[in-house]
Amino acid sequence: MIEFDSSLFKNKVKSLFLHTEEETLAAYIYSTPDPNIENDPARGEEYYRQVIEESVDYYLYKEEVRLINTVANQLSNYVPQGVNLVEFGPGTKTAFINKTMPFLKSLNHNITKYIPVDLCKTYLDQAKDVLQDELPDMLVKPIQDDFIENTDLVKQFDKPLVWFKGSTITNLSTNQCIDFMKNISQALPSEGILIVGVDANQSESSLKKAYDTEEMANLMLSVLYWVDRDLPTTNFNPEAFKYQPEWTPNNYCLKHNAIATSNQDFVFDGVNISIKENEKFHLLSSYKYPVDYFQKIARQAGLEPLTHFVDESKRMVIHVLASKNSVA
Ligand SMILES: C[S@@+](CC[C@H](N)C(=O)[O-])C[C@H]1O[C@@H](n2cnc3c(N)ncnc32)[C@H](O)[C@@H]1O
Repeated sequence: MIEFDSSLFKNKVKSLFLHTEEETLAAYIYSTPDPNIENDPARGEEYYRQVIEESVDYYLYKEEVRLINTVANQLSNYVPQGVNLVEFGPGTKTAFINKTMPFLKSLNHNITKYIPVDLCKTYLDQAKDVLQDELPDMLVKPIQDDFIENTDLVKQFDKPLVWFKGSTITNLSTNQCIDFMKNISQALPSEGILIVGVDANQSESSLKKAYDTEEMANLMLSVLYWVDRDLPTTNFNPEAFKYQPEWTPNNYCLKHNAIATSNQDFVFDGVNISIKENEKFHLLSSYKYPVDYFQKIARQAGLEPLTHFVDESKRMVIHVLASKNSVA
């Protein structure tokens, strides 16, 4: 396993506090950095589990589970024989059982290897354990790495197919998303396929119900406790923030903001930082791309949409995209 790169984390947090960059923390929200610390407020894994399993109006998880289970057999038609299946961000054990397993089973053992890639070690271990019980003959090679920074890891494998569900791709800014898809398209060989889940919901009221919740606030703000504990800070108060989701429909963006609830002065990695009450920090985003728009940016990135599947609620979508090499 590759070690967690804390200097990258530090730089992303620093640029956020200095407002030189926004929406930098997507990769860090879902992890619990040290599962051995009991009741650690930096426990993204537990808060993410609460969001997907207990937050009644958080539809993304439930509807994508339904969609994948409905279309797994149709998806398998796009998967070549003897594929190395690279999954970006397998996520929690329940997500693995309810989304990835039905897809893997639909492939009828037609896989050379399953390669889960995640920054969070717990998720990788859980995926491996479930597979050992359910498909013991499957070869598994977990990789603990940042798949946005190191997309080229796909090139290590023959016949790779990238499986990227959970609308995680929409945590990237639109420009980052296009760059990421360009990187994938270049990393995939001819006939390489990317299967990716995207939330297309445009209803402000249902977005508000899904995101403006205590569970979501706990998840988004927990990363500030990780910053306080593990990064070089002096006098930083992670409690002096509240969560505020913000929908900007013109660019399809649901912003996850932390708003300072008081003034505070602290030192971060040797730099003096002064925060004012009500100052806004845009931690990360969840973009909500309509099908046409997502297909447009995929083409811009060198990927050809082959087909897509839409859940009955018309919100969750699974896109099947091919590197342009494969359709030339
Ligand atoms: C929104 S969750 C989705 C989980 C799962 N795919 C699902 O459908 O429920 C995002 C997952 O990707 C991982 N992740 C996010 N950004 C990452 C990055 N840049 N590199 C590695 N893992 C990342 C998180 O740890 C988490 O497991």
